[in-house]
Amino acid sequence: MNERLLELVDQMTLDEKTSQLIQLATHFYKGAVKDGQVSGPLEEMGISEDIVRNSGSVLGASGAKEVINIQKAHLEENRLQIPLLIMADIIHGYKTIFPVPLAIGCSFDMELAEKSAEIAAREAAVSGVHVTFAPMVDLVRDPRWGRVMESIGEDPFLNSLFAKAFVRGFQGSDLRNDPTRVAACVKHFAAYGAAEGGRDYNTVNMSERQLRESYLPAYKAALDEGCEMVMTSFNIVDGIPASGNQHLLRNLLREEWNFDGVIISDWGAVKELIPHGAADDEREAAHKAIEAGVDIEMMTACYVKNLKELVEAGTIEESIINEAVLRILTLKEKLGLFDNPFRGADSLAEEEIILCDSHRKTAYELAAKSCVLLKNDGVLPLNSNQKIALIGPFAESGDLLGPWSWLGSKDETRKLSDSLKLKIDPSNLFIADGCDIETGTAEQLKEAIYTAENADVIVLALGEHSHMSGEASSRGDIRLPKVQVELISHLKKLQKPIAVVLFNGRPLDLHGVIDEADAVLEAWYPGTEGGLAVADLLYGERNPSGKLTMSFPYSVGQVPVYYNAFNTGRPKDESDPKEHFVSKYLDIPNEPLFPFGFGLSYGTFLYSDVALSSQTLTPDEPLFVSVKVKNTGKLAGEETVQVYIRDMKGEVVRPVKELKDFKKILLQPGETKEVTFEITEEKLRYYHSNMKFSSDAGAFKVFVGTNSRDAAGHHFELIKNPGTAEQQKSHSMKLPSL
Ligand code: BGC
Repeated sequence: MNERLLELVDQMTLDEKTSQLIQLATHFYKGAVKDGQVSGPLEEMGISEDIVRNSGSVLGASGAKEVINIQKAHLEENRLQIPLLIMADIIHGYKTIFPVPLAIGCSFDMELAEKSAEIAAREAAVSGVHVTFAPMVDLVRDPRWGRVMESIGEDPFLNSLFAKAFVRGFQGSDLRNDPTRVAACVKHFAAYGAAEGGRDYNTVNMSERQLRESYLPAYKAALDEGCEMVMTSFNIVDGIPASGNQHLLRNLLREEWNFDGVIISDWGAVKELIPHGAADDEREAAHKAIEAGVDIEMMTACYVKNLKELVEAGTIEESIINEAVLRILTLKEKLGLFDNPFRGADSLAEEEIILCDSHRKTAYELAAKSCVLLKNDGVLPLNSNQKIALIGPFAESGDLLGPWSWLGSKDETRKLSDSLKLKIDPSNLFIADGCDIETGTAEQLKEAIYTAENADVIVLALGEHSHMSGEASSRGDIRLPKVQVELISHLKKLQKPIAVVLFNGRPLDLHGVIDEADAVLEAWYPGTEGGLAVADLLYGERNPSGKLTMSFPYSVGQVPVYYNAFNTGRPKDESDPKEHFVSKYLDIPNEPLFPFGFGLSYGTFLYSDVALSSQTLTPDEPLFVSVKVKNTGKLAGEETVQVYIRDMKGEVVRPVKELKDFKKILLQPGETKEVTFEITEEKLRYYHSNMKFSSDAGAFKVFVGTNSRDAAGHHFELIKNPGTAEQQKSHSMKLPSL
């Protein structure tokens, strides 16, 4: 325990302590007091200037100059010289914007993901930011939820790897001595991504097992990597709002996982205990949240207005407030703020490094690796002799950054049109918008048809406006806006090849797109360098290698549809389509349009010679599975070789497939590589009915392949107690066939 900080807490009055626990946005620090009168946001929130003067942290400040001003003014007034923590949402880049996290996931590239977080941290740190509200690691199975773009997707293992990579990138290894990094805050604890119906902020209802097995691992992984903070979620977890949930925050996070960093509520979430129906008033909301373990209350004033009285009335102990204050001061100390409250903020460095070439280069690389080729009937790659009609609302748009890119500038963004002009003679490129994102006119359509008539190939740049995904942007219909689907069908009549490039923030229902287009490249929101990366992919200067981290549903009626589901007692048997009483839809398939792990390239990768080092494994002796992969295409390409496992029978039933490992390999044309994976007993563990995390002896299947659907399965067996009669019996049992 740091004596200096304990002494500081001792010196603080109760008012100073409770003020330390509020987080306010920057506008509270600017001109909130006019002619000695409290006005604006302070008046609205019903708080005094004293509270702002003693507050502990600021939300959303950025820019060295602004931060230095706020900190200076604060320290001039603050009795004990306790510096402010500056926090902001630096989600996928500061000003150099990387692809949205859902796209970063598709790269399956942890190193690049880490690098992107490191760059985001560097740009944010010189601009005065100390903590980023990232990574967001909520597992999502419902593409209607607008915040899918902030997540990696539907797989707990992959989400955990990315959670760790982002934390490493943001924080580095020594926050105190490295002012170019920022502290990370993993969010939204917990299970925010499981909102019913995909409607943001909605009810979450799941078993403890599902929570532990699928939703919690990524938060835990971030904390294992040393993540300094946790943000609560807006939703209820087992009937209790996360921000007042003792089981979640105290029992699980603090006691079971030993997390001793700062817990912050999400924006207004403490006060939201009232509309949730979990508190009568702000006083009860404050009581429940502080008892649950929330240290900082973001953007509402339940704590500052009530905690002192709650202590004086003997309802809560002052020690609970002291602990929260101490955790906040400890983070300030870790960041070196007591020695240098302006940590890292540097206007000159801002000019030098923000959007510098090397940052842009990483943004380009990540964009090129995160686009996913969903279909290609041979129209791609384009060649530079063709006349191209570039049509669609994203043809000349700089809106390629996506939600949570608040400091990103469209003017700094490479547009697709400008990037294509670098590939071909501009006189061979004809451009029209065809329609806007959600509306269109007859003139726009006419111009598009006229433009396309002159071309050999039509490149259609379509998608969702960035405000159609992100927070509070759930959609019930996840098709492209009607006007864009109609544009495709009008252009289709010209009988020219059509390559669609999609810019969007969620898996879409691609009816009217996938069937009409000859090629579809999912570019997501690819960031500052996105236009160039897409152009290079279209012309085969880069070979697409992204793989989906979320299933694309056949239609919204299947949602949630995800690869790691259970088999049911009546699984559908594709070889017997007449069987009626099976788990199926009458009108749509069970399978998604594109499964998890799916993504094409301009060639093919041939998988052969899958071999297991043994038919059995034991806790002491892993087994190895190897496969040969050959690039049969004409271009060098990267393939992500994926390994899935199925536990054929469990005490608790197991998913039909679970991703356990993968490797990215680069193959030259004609080249073959052998890839080997280790399967250990540890990888076969799961939560049993008593919540014990262990494995079961018995039969398993391992699948090695190019996506979660197209992967051949091979049997093996786990032997836990070699030599025992029971084990020998199970060993000699016939393995079930699928
Ligand atoms: C979001 C958080 C974000 C916070 C602060 C909230 O509305 O849910 O993800 O970090 O605002 O901007």
